[in-house]
Amino acid sequence: MKKIGLLGCGAIGTQIALAIDSGKIPATLTHVYDNSKDASASLVKKLKNKPIIVENSHLLSSNPIDIIVEAASQDAVKDVALSVLQNKCDLMIMSVGALLDESIYDILSDACRDFKKTIYLPSGAIAGLDGIKSLKDELESLSLTTTKHPRSLKGAKFFENSQINLDEINSITTIFEGTAKEAVSLFPANINVAALLSLTGIGSEKTNVKIVADPNTDKNTHHIEAAGTFGKMTFTIENFPDVNNPKTSRLAILSAIETLRKYCSNDIQIGT
Ligand SMILES: NC(=O)c1ccc[n+]([C@@H]2O[C@H](COP(=O)([O-])OP(=O)(O)OC[C@H]3O[C@@H](n4cnc5c(N)ncnc54)[C@H](O)[C@@H]3O)[C@@H](O)[C@H]2O)c1
Repeated sequence: MKKIGLLGCGAIGTQIALAIDSGKIPATLTHVYDNSKDASASLVKKLKNKPIIVENSHLLSSNPIDIIVEAASQDAVKDVALSVLQNKCDLMIMSVGALLDESIYDILSDACRDFKKTIYLPSGAIAGLDGIKSLKDELESLSLTTTKHPRSLKGAKFFENSQINLDEINSITTIFEGTAKEAVSLFPANINVAALLSLTGIGSEKTNVKIVADPNTDKNTHHIEAAGTFGKMTFTIENFPDVNNPKTSRLAILSAIETLRKYCSNDIQIGT
């Protein structure tokens, strides 16, 4: 059985831990860490098989663990990703926006080769990455329109320098239009999908992103258009937000669970 360490015990981390505990992911959750002691303690309380709570994030990968699952924040990725690989552990990253910093991407990519370890980025809250990955050399344009309820956008850095008051939005309003690179830095907790698309396709400066607030929606909707010499693909994914964190879609959690299940199983692997 593979051994898993978990960094971040919030909405995603908790559901991953429960999936391991129930046997859906055939593995053992051996160690967990969260900056919030309450979050790690409350997660461990929910589990039949209790992992050890370590004292800091670097201690996760100093144990004999196969893979560290990051479900915390971009800062957590910047802080621990390299040492995880140096400690000969694989790594699954949910806070994908951290990788749009090219120096971080290059350091981690080199470390994967040097230490013969792999970083896994689940497809998150979108579908279609398999197709985009296959035809990326033939892509000419790639765009993402994300529509969410205004409350799902709250707390984003963008609003520090904006006149927009999310509480006063009463009709469909475009909040932001720009490149994926800008979107990820201004909406770091909301737009991991833009980071994933950029890394899969034609880069963060050529991927166009629009963020729309809709006060009447109960879904997080991502509409993707990809065009090139191969033809055209469009995907619309309408996700319900997770009950514990409206910024996170249910599909993001399920895609993380499926990526880990695949990592831990010897099985027929379907899909590109
Ligand atoms: N890839 C995707 O499609 C996708 C989708 C949704 C969310 N995410 C990202 O995944 C991450 C987790 O999402 P969530 O919904 O579980 O968030 P959450 O806020 O519910 O939980 C995050 C947990 O991590 C802890 N944490 C934050 N920074 C930390 C650090 N540096 N070290 C240790 N613990 C830390 C927090 O205390 C919290 O308990 C976020 O960065 C989010 O943006 C990615």
